[in-house]
Amino acid sequence: MENAVHEAFALAEHAATVIRKTFPAHHEVLVVLGSGWAESVPALEALSTSPVHTLEIAEIPGFKKPTALGHGGALKSITVGSTPVLLLTGRTHLYEGRGVHAVVHGIRTAYNLGCRTVILTNGAGCLRTDWQVGTPVVIRDHINLTAHSPLTGDNAPPPLAGRFVDLTDAYATSLRDLVRSIEPSINEAVYLGLHGPHFETPAEITMAATWGAEMVGMSTVLETIAARHLDMNVLALSLATNLASGLSGNKLSGEEVIQVGKDSSKKVGDLLSRVLIAFDQLQNGKLS
Ligand code: HPA
Repeated sequence: MENAVHEAFALAEHAATVIRKTFPAHHEVLVVLGSGWAESVPALEALSTSPVHTLEIAEIPGFKKPTALGHGGALKSITVGSTPVLLLTGRTHLYEGRGVHAVVHGIRTAYNLGCRTVILTNGAGCLRTDWQVGTPVVIRDHINLTAHSPLTGDNAPPPLAGRFVDLTDAYATSLRDLVRSIEPSINEAVYLGLHGPHFETPAEITMAATWGAEMVGMSTVLETIAARHLDMNVLALSLATNLASGLSGNKLSGEEVIQVGKDSSKKVGDLLSRVLIAFDQLQNGKLS
């Protein structure tokens, strides 16, 4: 194999070939379920108008069971209305040390299975003290401070696009509008993506606030870049699991993040279900 980039794309094609042996051949939407969102899986499965298919991701080439707290390790196929949807119940984070291509492998695999829309979800710290912890927000833009890009190295193999990807409209306006049509009061945020796994210092959060960051987390931005490279439309939703470092007087802990996620599972499951139903209706011309 020529180089790491071509190897990464070939591995995603191989993963898709393996998945197609048990799943329906074509999917349209990938939903990545991060901290606080994976608990929505039963509600999403209950929506399915076709039998649910499940694979342990450890059985799929290039995937490994995530080590992050609160992350599952399955890939599921459901159908919402007539839209076939993949659910990835856990993601690989950059801080797990498997490299940037492992972080975006799910995106590239889903692309090979036909997905042209990605819904990324995460649990994140909130810099806005006037917003409510335990509430989802829509990401409208990001600041990538991971110091990495999934497009580092050689160009992807043709006919895929080259490396200089436009991120002006990284988070699709049409999908943000769709969420607002079903949840008019939802807040929109600039998400700051950091390497982690440590939480931030209060001084870092003070700096981030001056840059315009409103949510902070350790995921999403690299997946968005990889998806935009493939011309996939991205919607990203954050659950505010805590006020960011130094803003509440409390220390931060992974356990608190998980607990707020559990406490909010009904709310976020309900939102995701309604987003998928509205997306299906839009695709089928039933929503203007
Ligand atoms: N910082 C970074 N990542 C996070 C946080 C946070 O406060 N909460 C949940 N994920």
